[in-house]
Amino acid sequence: MTAVVGNYLLGDPVDRVEGPLKVTGTAPYPSDVALPGLVHAALVQSPIGAGTISRIDTGPAEAAPGVVAVLTYQNTPELAAPPPSPFGSPPRYPFTDNRILHYGQHVAIVVAGTPEQAATAARLVEVDYAETPPVLGIDNPRAPVLENPYGTDTERGDAAAGLAAAEVVLDATFAIAPETNNPLGLFTTVACWEADRLVVHETTQWPMLVRSTLAAVFGVPEGNVRVLVPHIGGGFGAGLRVPPHTVLTVLAARTLDRPVKLVLTRPQMFTSIGHRPETVQRVRLGATRDGRLVAIDHEGTSTIGIEETNLEPLSRGTALAYACPNVATRDRQVRLNIPNPGWMRAPGTVQGHFALESALDELAYELGIDPLELRLRNYAEVHPQSGLPWSSKALRDCYRVGAERFGWAGRNPGIRSTRDGNWLVGYGMAGVTFEWYQSPCRASISIRRDGTAQVRSAATDLGTGTYTIATQLAAELLGLDRGRVRVAIGDSDLPPAPQSGGSGLAVALSAAIHATAGNLLRAFLTLVAGDDRSPLRGREPDEVRATDGRLHLVHDPSVGETYLDILARHGRDELTADGEATPQVDGVPMAPSGSFAARFVEVRVDEELGLLRVRRIVTVVDAGRVLNRKTARSQIIGATVMGLGMAMLERTVFDPAGRVANATFGEYLIPVHADVPELDVVFLGAPDGLHPVGMKGLGEIGIVGVAPAIANAVFHATGRRIRSLPITIERLL
Ligand code: MOS
Repeated sequence: MTAVVGNYLLGDPVDRVEGPLKVTGTAPYPSDVALPGLVHAALVQSPIGAGTISRIDTGPAEAAPGVVAVLTYQNTPELAAPPPSPFGSPPRYPFTDNRILHYGQHVAIVVAGTPEQAATAARLVEVDYAETPPVLGIDNPRAPVLENPYGTDTERGDAAAGLAAAEVVLDATFAIAPETNNPLGLFTTVACWEADRLVVHETTQWPMLVRSTLAAVFGVPEGNVRVLVPHIGGGFGAGLRVPPHTVLTVLAARTLDRPVKLVLTRPQMFTSIGHRPETVQRVRLGATRDGRLVAIDHEGTSTIGIEETNLEPLSRGTALAYACPNVATRDRQVRLNIPNPGWMRAPGTVQGHFALESALDELAYELGIDPLELRLRNYAEVHPQSGLPWSSKALRDCYRVGAERFGWAGRNPGIRSTRDGNWLVGYGMAGVTFEWYQSPCRASISIRRDGTAQVRSAATDLGTGTYTIATQLAAELLGLDRGRVRVAIGDSDLPPAPQSGGSGLAVALSAAIHATAGNLLRAFLTLVAGDDRSPLRGREPDEVRATDGRLHLVHDPSVGETYLDILARHGRDELTADGEATPQVDGVPMAPSGSFAARFVEVRVDEELGLLRVRRIVTVVDAGRVLNRKTARSQIIGATVMGLGMAMLERTVFDPAGRVANATFGEYLIPVHADVPELDVVFLGAPDGLHPVGMKGLGEIGIVGVAPAIANAVFHATGRRIRSLPITIERLL
């Protein structure tokens, strides 16, 4: 009996199981944690972008009311280097020496009895700096440049020769402003040492990474570190590293031998947990007059901190998106005195698609070919890099269904052809190919005499539905009511799970639950294997299925017994099984897989006022099986709104001294309800054969393709090609 998954594409729209806890204010977030003897920390950050600390006087701060410690590079021990993470080394530890490498670098952590006392005392720490001119600007010739920093550049055929021979060549450069992840929940660390055991309540998308990093840095066994994060107030990728403030808070707790809590302020969120790097991308397309791509050359440049890493290939996705014989993709990183960038929803891919899908639109108009038709003529029937079949791909259906729902064929294709009063009306579209991956994941499941099942894994729920889909899937596989399934996640003591990032957690956790449920059902059969009183005695796994809390023969459901009867007869309070899903062989995915989407956008532009309004967006997604059509739709809607922000509003402004000039919600603009139009979301395709439950990655694809579809619609409306994001008023006037 293996765990059987039903024959559906779209799972039930179950409400989020943790929703009642959240709306009643009883879901504990890291910032809610209170412990006996807890003291509170505040950060002192560098007001300069580059230089050295020439003097620190902590005396006035130490004398302030309630202060118990002020820690700086001068009075703290050297810490061990953390191990590299799979996605780049951990951020530079700010107390390494007296050098300042960016604005907002932490130079002291002040601990006091209350948060207010700590914040007040932080302002009393006196720091003198010897300033040097910061290296700023993505085109700064003084900035060190890294070529192909992660070995992700690709080459197939001969792109240069292909461009030279092409009938038509398009050459365009695209720029995207830096943006900042702004989850509502302020990132928090609460650290508590008991002898050499550490408990950390941490805002993170990856408890196991926090555990291994802190264990290495503080020289204790990994098993001595427990990371707890039952709920997260959003992350968008910001929780995929162990940020410097986490290490400092844990250090303060160890130094003081007291639990210490640090909650970042909103402005500190702009300097402390990463941001989407500024990028410049050059795309060259070579094509025949009838719209066949013969060459693509894509070069991406992004910014990075002076002594930091950030795996964020911009151009790589271009090698996978279309059938084209000659493709070269390259990435470069420019080192600047800026807070280190990090991942922000669909990192790399979302920027790369803005460049590629905008360039394709330009090519389509140049050739006089419908933009959708141009994409179909270059459809990648197989994975372009390997030549292998995709695990599944319904992008053609996404295009067809999206075009029908949107009414694409009914538009007037002429530039500036459509008006509604003062508004110029435009229609644009984009295709999306999104490479996802599945990491190894473990789980354990118990069925208890009280009739409940307990599912455990060190996964996290960003607020997007991990608890809910784990509940649904376990209930389905175990043949139990959903109300009887309890899901425990957000705890590094549970079976190891990967990060909730890279659109990979739901697929990894679901595969682990599938494997574990199969093991648990086998464990029940093993228990009754020699049991004369069991109607299931001697039965093989594939003969048996679970329904309504009862195991029974597939071919004769009247033959069987309940979980509880088996447990009771064998004097067991519970039966537990562990399971693991490892989708890759030697780190290589077993088949090329991608999620796909088509987007269609209608905009209105008032040229006199420079106003841009998005009127509707149709998104059609092939992400394989969707376990919960409601949470999945919400995932796509939320990401689409982030895409609106990227396209029209979001921009982290670094001033000439390298300071973030708009580090508040008053000045860093994100979409509000009035900015968000009707969002039509459709899922189609089929359960994917690569994954045991049939799923593909879904978490990030919703942001990809929004910005180019909007920019393309702006072109159709106005005849103005905007190659820089965000598309603000001044770019439309
Ligand atoms: Mo996403 S940037 O992998 O949370």
